[in-house]
Amino acid sequence: MPLNQQILLDNRPIGEAVASNFKLVSSETPALKDGQVLVRHHFLSLDPYMRGRMNDTRNYAAAQPLGQVMIGGTAGEVMESRSPKFQPGDKVVGMGGWQQYSVVDAEQPGALRKVDTTQVPLSHYLGAVGMPGVTAYYGLVKIIEPKAGQTVAVSAATGAVGSAFAALAKARGCRTVGIAGGPDKCQYAVNELGFDACIDYKLYKDAASLSAALKEACPNGIDGYFENVGGMVLNAVLPLMNDFGRIAVCGMIAGYDGEPTPITHPALILRSRLKVQGFIVSEHMEVWPEALKELGTLVATGKLRPRETIAQGLQAAPEAFLGLLKGRNFGKQLVKLI
Ligand SMILES: NC(=O)c1ccc[n+]([C@@H]2O[C@H](COP(=O)([O-])OP(=O)(O)OC[C@H]3O[C@@H](n4cnc5c(N)ncnc54)[C@H](OP(=O)(O)O)[C@@H]3O)[C@@H](O)[C@H]2O)c1
Repeated sequence: MPLNQQILLDNRPIGEAVASNFKLVSSETPALKDGQVLVRHHFLSLDPYMRGRMNDTRNYAAAQPLGQVMIGGTAGEVMESRSPKFQPGDKVVGMGGWQQYSVVDAEQPGALRKVDTTQVPLSHYLGAVGMPGVTAYYGLVKIIEPKAGQTVAVSAATGAVGSAFAALAKARGCRTVGIAGGPDKCQYAVNELGFDACIDYKLYKDAASLSAALKEACPNGIDGYFENVGGMVLNAVLPLMNDFGRIAVCGMIAGYDGEPTPITHPALILRSRLKVQGFIVSEHMEVWPEALKELGTLVATGKLRPRETIAQGLQAAPEAFLGLLKGRNFGKQLVKLI
C-alpha cells in the first residue's frame, strides 16, 4: 500500500487562522478490508466552511478533531477495490480529506459517488457540478424562488457558489447583479459569467456608499439576495430589498476569522416583510439530483464556464486555504495532488 501524505489540524486558531494550525505528516495506508476501496485523490476542494470546523465552538457541524486529517471534498480515481460497486479506474468524488489517498468504506451510503468525466472535467465535480453548485441552486430555487424579470443579487459573486448562482439565475430570466472584490473579478463577472452588473465592494468605505452604488445597478430594487459574506455588504443590500423579498443566508465569510458582523438596521426585515432563511446544503439531499442535472447541462453546453484557482501539491493546501479566506482565489479553489 502507498505511503500517504496527510495534513492534520494540529491546533486551533486564536483569531485569524494561520499556517501553523496545520501539520504535514506521512503514514502507511492500511490494507483494504472487504467492502473497502483505495482512492487516489487528484483534486482536493478547499471551502470556507472548513474555517468554522477549525474552532471548537457551537456550529451547525461538529468541530474538526485535533490530530486528525482535515476534512474536505476530494475527486480522484479508484486504485484498488474490494467492493463490487467500484472498479479500479472509476472516477469518484468523496470526502477523502487533505491527504493523497483515502480508504473508503464503499458500502456506506453516499461515501463515494462515481462521476462521468466525458463532458464535465473531474475537478468541476468539486465546484459547479458539486457541493458549491448545489448550494447556489438550493438558495436560488428553493428559498429565493425567483420569477422571470425579478432582480436577484449575490455576494462573493465570482466564487464557486456565486458563479453557479449567476448561470442558474440567468437561466430563469432574472436581472442578476453580483458583488465582488476588485475590478478584475467584476469585469470577469459581467464578461464571462453573464452578470448584468457587478459592484466592487472594495471601492466603498461604508454600507451607505456601497448601497448607493448597488441601487444604480438595481433600479427596480432587489427581490432575492443570496448572502455569502455578511457585514457591510448585507447592511448595504438590506435597504434595497423589495417588499416580500427573500434572503437566502448561505455564508457570512466576513466574520469567519472572528470579526463581528452586526446587522445595523434589522427593522428593515420587518419594514419590507422579508423572508430570511439560513440553510446548509447537506441537509437537503433531496434536491441534489435535480440540481446536479441542471448544473451538469449548463457546464456541458458551455453556459457555465467555471474558473478555478489551482494550488499545486498537498503542502500548498494551508496557504491556499488561508488565501481563500482573504479573497485571493478567483473562482473555485482547488489543490491538485497529481
Ligand atoms: N450554507 C451552505 O451549505 C454553504 C455551502 C457552501 C458554501 N457556503 C458559503 O458560501 C460562501 C461562498 O463559498 P464559496 O465556496 O463559493 O467560496 P468562494 O466564493 O469561492 O471564496 C470565498 C470568497 O469570499 C470572499 N471573501 C473572503 N473574505 C471576505 C471578507 N472578509 N469580506 C468579503 N468577502 C470575502 C472572497 O471574494 P471577493 O474577493 O469577491 O471578496 C473570496 O474569494 C461562503 O460564505 C461559504 O461559507 C455555504
